[in-house]
Amino acid sequence: MNTEQKFLSRSEAETEALGAALARELGSGGIVLLNGDLGAGKTVFSRGFARGLGITEPVSSPTYTIVQEYELPGGGRLYHMDLYRIGDEHAALGFGVDEFLNEPGAVSLIEWPERIRGLLPDTAIRVELAHRSENEREIRIIRP
Ligand SMILES: Nc1ncnc2c1ncn2[C@@H]1O[C@H](COP(=O)(O)OP(=O)(O)OP(=O)(O)O)[C@@H](O)[C@H]1O
Ligand SMILES: [Mg+2]
Repeated sequence: MNTEQKFLSRSEAETEALGAALARELGSGGIVLLNGDLGAGKTVFSRGFARGLGITEPVSSPTYTIVQEYELPGGGRLYHMDLYRIGDEHAALGFGVDEFLNEPGAVSLIEWPERIRGLLPDTAIRVELAHRSENEREIRIIRP
C-alpha cells in the first residue's frame, strides 16, 4: 500500500529542508522521482537532498548535461538527472540510464521521470511538486 505525506512549503529553504530530510531517511541506495511543472522546485528539492546526503559541492541543474554525478561521503554515488530534453527510453538507454538505476549503493534523483516510465521500478519514491502561489509549493511524498 502507498503511503503519502503532504506538505506546504512557503520558501525555497523549506523545500530544501524537505529534500534533506528525505535524503537522510533514505541513506544509501534508492530512486526518487521528481514530478512537477517547470519551476515547481524539483532542482531546489534536489539541492537540499544532496546536502542531506552530505554533498558539499555546488548542485546545479543538469538541464544540459542530463546527468550530474556526485560522490557520497560514505561511498556510492548520487546521480541527479534532468530528462526534460530526452526524447524517450531509447535515448535514455543510450546514455546508460539503466546502469545508473541498477548500480548498488547509488541514489538516483530524476527530474521529468515520465520520459522513461517503462524503465522505472515500482519501488521508487515519488515526489510531486505543484505551484500554489509565487512562493508556495504543495509537496507530496509517496512511498510504495
Ligand atoms: N516554496 C518554494 N519551493 C521551491 N522553490 C521556490 C519556492 N518558492 C519560490 N521558489 C522558486 O521557484 C523556482 C524553482 O525552480 P527549480 O529550478 O527548482 O524548478 P524545477 O522544478 O527544477 O524546474 P525545471 O523543470 O525547469 O527543471 C526557483 O526560482 C525558486 O526560487
Ligand atoms: Mg530543474
